[in-house]
Amino acid sequence: MEIIIQKTPDAGCLLGAKIMAKKVREKPDAVLGLATGRTPERLYGELVRMHREEGLDFSQVTTFNLDEYVGLSPDHPQSYRRFMNEHLFDHINIDLARTHVPAGDAADLQAECRAYEQRIAAAGGIDLQLLGLGRNGHIGFNEPTGSLRSRTWIKILSEQTLEDNSAVFGDMAAMPRHAISMGIGTIIDARQIVLLAFGPAKVRAVMDMIEGPLAAVCPGSALQQHPRATVVLDEASAGGLR
Ligand code: F6R
Repeated sequence: MEIIIQKTPDAGCLLGAKIMAKKVREKPDAVLGLATGRTPERLYGELVRMHREEGLDFSQVTTFNLDEYVGLSPDHPQSYRRFMNEHLFDHINIDLARTHVPAGDAADLQAECRAYEQRIAAAGGIDLQLLGLGRNGHIGFNEPTGSLRSRTWIKILSEQTLEDNSAVFGDMAAMPRHAISMGIGTIIDARQIVLLAFGPAKVRAVMDMIEGPLAAVCPGSALQQHPRATVVLDEASAGGLR
């Protein structure tokens, strides 16, 4: 695990964008794994800028998002499909047919999980996976104690995740209780991983991920075994490291 500590979240996002852009320049038909959430917003803004000002070309890129809320249609304002369209896809020259987000409104969710795995395999696997980190150490929506070998599956969201993500839903009652998420095994199969974690709320999770045992209680710790994982922190989130 390579650990890079930047002064601010902005600097961390710019570095993350640089790593992703490098991959796209080296391999124009790269398969990118993408995350949603507050952490990567600035990173996506920077990729949009690179597309507009530097001609960064996404025309042959394929993407797979980590997760989606169960029950939300792609056009729901809080769906992760909508998040991706608004923060990235609508502003770059990507072919929307090559962008994949699990279908949270699929009639048969188990079949959708299997199909998502098959789509990733058919695309040749993920070249570079972008991750955020939950306050409880989750990656994707793999909450603590889920199997480290899991494949795309349906996860029950933890109380802490409900609390952290409910603000955008207005109230807790409106928030979905389940999500489809790539499994930890799916994530770890990516050939390269970049995880971003910023701010004081992530201190504990960052410590557990980097210095704790490789254990399902901190899903992020699975990255310890990955041959090419980079963790980008800011000074606040790195504050507890020895
Ligand atoms: C998002 C995802 C989650 C987030 C994590 C951190 O697709 O899979 O694991 O990365 O919950 O969220 P933020 O960035 O909002 O702190």
